[in-house]
Parts: sequence; C-alpha cells; structure tokens
Amino acid sequence: MKIMKKIAFVLIVGLVILSYGTSAMADKNAPLAALGKPSIPADNPQSAAKIELGKLLFFDPRIGGDASVSCADCHMPSQGWGFNDPISRGYPGAIHWRNSQTVVNSAYLGKLFWTGSAKSLENQAPSAALGALSGNGERDMIEARLAFIPVYVKAFREVFGDRWPRVNNVWRAMASFERTLIHNNTPFDKHMRGDKKALSAQQKRGLKLFQGKANCIECHNGAQLTDQKYYNLGVPRAEEWLTRGLAQVTFRYQQYGKGTTEKMYRKVKDDAGLYYRTKENADKGKFRTPPLRYLAYTAPYMHNGTFFDLEELVDFYNDGGGKNEFAANKTKLLKPLKLSDEEKEDLVAFLESLSGPEIKMATPKLPPYAPLD
Ligand code: HEC
Ligand code: HEC
Repeated sequence: MKIMKKIAFVLIVGLVILSYGTSAMADKNAPLAALGKPSIPADNPQSAAKIELGKLLFFDPRIGGDASVSCADCHMPSQGWGFNDPISRGYPGAIHWRNSQTVVNSAYLGKLFWTGSAKSLENQAPSAALGALSGNGERDMIEARLAFIPVYVKAFREVFGDRWPRVNNVWRAMASFERTLIHNNTPFDKHMRGDKKALSAQQKRGLKLFQGKANCIECHNGAQLTDQKYYNLGVPRAEEWLTRGLAQVTFRYQQYGKGTTEKMYRKVKDDAGLYYRTKENADKGKFRTPPLRYLAYTAPYMHNGTFFDLEELVDFYNDGGGKNEFAANKTKLLKPLKLSDEEKEDLVAFLESLSGPEIKMATPKLPPYAPLD
C-alpha cells in the first residue's frame, strides 16, 4: 500500500512538472530568426519557364474584368509591391476598402490577406483577379482572351501541357512568380546569421527594446516576425470613410455583401475585420499580425493605412494602442510603454534594419493578341 502511495505521489508530481513545463513552453514566443527559403508546394514546383510566364501574367491587365487592371497596378514594384494610398485603388469605378499589402515575402505566409482569408498563393490569386473590388474578372473570359495570345498559348502548352491556357494554371504561374519575390537578406537577417557588423549600435538597442520593454515580440515573432494570429489594436477608422463618398459606398457594399446583420449594416462605421469571416462578436476589429520585412517601402501602415511613417506608428504603440468602435475586443497585450524619445528612435532604427535593397522590376513587354493560325 505504502509503495502504491509512493508511486501515485511520484506520478502526480511528475504530471504537475510536465504540465507546468509544457504550458510554460506554450507561452514562450517563437524566437526571432533569420529567414530561410519559402517552401514550395509539391503540386506546383518552380521552373524558370513557369516563373517567367507568371511574371507576364502578374503584369497583364487582360487577367482582369475590363482588361485595364493588372495585379501590378495595386502591387506596384515602385510602391513596395503594394499601393501607397492609405486605401488601395480599386477596380475602375470603385476604390478598395483596405490598404494594399506588399506581395514581397507573401510566399512565407499560411494566412493571406488582412484577415487571413486565403491559405496559399494559388488560392489567393483567383480571389484577387475575380473579386469585385480588385480584378473583377470572369474565368471563361480570361481563358478566351489568353487563347488569342499566341505567346501564352505556347507557354501554357510548354509549362502545363494545356491544349489551351487554363485559368487554374494562371493562378499557379502567378504563385510561382510571387515565390521569387523574397526579401531574406536584410541587415537584421545578417545579424541573426552572426554578422556582428550588420546592425548599428542604435539598431541593436532597438532590437533589445523590441524583445524587451516594448514587447513587440509578443506578436511579431519567429523568422517572419508574425505569429499569424488576430488582434484588435484599436486602430482608428479610415479617414476616407468620412471624406470620400465612393469609399463609403464600398464600405457599405462590403458590409452588405459579407452578410452582416441589418443592425450592424446600419450602425457599424468601421471595418470589423475577422468578424466578417467568423461572425463571432469577439472577432470584431481583429486583423492578422503582419510580417515586418520590407517596411521601408510599404508605407502607409496598418489595414487602412492610418500611419504614414514608422515614427507615428511607434507613438501609437507607445500610447498603448488606440481606440476604435470595437473597444470591448481590444487586446490586453498592449499597454503604454513609457519609451523615451531616444528609445523610440532606437526602435524605429531597428524596424529600418528589416529592409534591404529595394526589389526593382520594370514592366515587361506584354505579348500581343494575334489571329489564330
Ligand atoms: C485593385 C487593387 C488590387 C488588385 C488588382 C490586386 N490586388 Fe492584391 N491586394 C489588394 C489589397 C487591397 C489587398 C489587401 C486586401 C484585404 O486583405 O482585404 C491585397 C492583398 C494581396 C495579397 C496578400 C498579401 C498578404 O500579406 O497577405 C497578395 C498575395 C496579393 N494581393 C496578390 C495579388 C495578385 C496575384 C493579384 C492579381 C491576380 C492582385 N493581388 C490584384 C489590392 C489589389
Ligand atoms: C498584440 C499583438 C501585437 C503587438 C504586441 C505588436 N503588434 Fe504590431 N501589429 C499587430 C497587428 C494585429 C497589426 C495589424 C493591425 C491592423 O492593421 O489593424 C500590426 C501592425 C504592425 C505594423 C504595420 C505593418 C504593415 O505592414 O502595415 C508594424 C510596423 C508593427 N505592427 C510594428 C510593431 C512594433 C514596433 C511593436 C512593438 C512596439 C508591435 N508592432 C507590437 C500586432 C501586434
């Protein structure tokens, strides 16, 4: 009996230690790290010809509705592969309702868009090309157009074995091209790989603040500097929704189209974020933690482009975040940081170390339509 008791005691103590250990581990943030190469899906391997085809398609407006807007029109190489207005431009006659994200490093993300509504680049491209606010295209129309462009007919045959270009392979080729827009050799990456001279003394102080007093690491962690979770930081409502009639129309259209309640449609004046996907009240105002590389080229920041520079953004965090309509859901993880002016500058200097040289690319010459042989 005594032995049984002893065994039970040891077992219980063991269990307590074990569960304490795992919960402590679960609370620990993934450490910052240099970024490696993105993984390539087995069903869409990279090839030089596919990447080149994807590049042409990315820049080609004929993939959209009225053949006037390409992916590159909202993801402009010269604007950080995004669009530098707070709210993105839209399909002709509309404007978008969110800030256009950079496609640089999107290859690493398992949750795409500000509320993570797509899981892969192959799966994201059709919603961009066919979505009413962006490409507004039709699948059969896109296929019909491509069939009249001999260079594409030949390329789809060679790359995919398509008799005629198939729209699903448009998405595949675009994804392959996007997987080449990689930014993983920034001063920060070099520092993490052991180059002691990669960061200035000020940037090193900023890195310490990022992981310590400023607690950015709580959400911006791992090699991508994102936990890919969703939070409401209290980012204030987009200016445009007060000042631009067209932006208000888009917002109302989104509210309606995403199946909100009548009450919400009438009362809510701000982007409810993740809520539109889950319809859970607790998700109102939540957005995906974005990765932080290439920031130097992608201002303005946040889902609605509220902040024009990193100084403004650091002030926002220093105040413990902001206030929006969904205050009940604001994360408890943000608290006033009490950073001195010098510390704020150090943090900004560190954020700057997450960008290396700009990824430049000229618009390629697009293949012309021609009569079929
Ligand atoms: C009219 C503007 C517009 C066009 C055209 C457009 N996009 Fe976008 N793109 C956006 C906006 C705005 C977002 C963010 C939208 C959101 O999250 O609700 C976005 C998001 C993305 C993202 C997600 C990045 C991330 O960090 O999650 C990728 C990838 C992307 N677009 C690729 C494309 C591709 C490929 C095309 C062409 C088929 C395209 N886009 C066409 C405006 C546009
Ligand atoms: C509680 C989680 C959390 C913490 C802590 C946090 N962030 Fe964020 N960060 C987010 C989310 C979520 C967004 C997107 C919010 C939105 O668009 O509404 C964001 C956006 C950003 C952006 C804009 C990126 C872009 O592409 O627009 C930057 C830069 C940034 N954070 C830096 C920081 C810094 C610096 C700190 C520390 C002072 C910090 N963050 C702390 C979750 C967090």
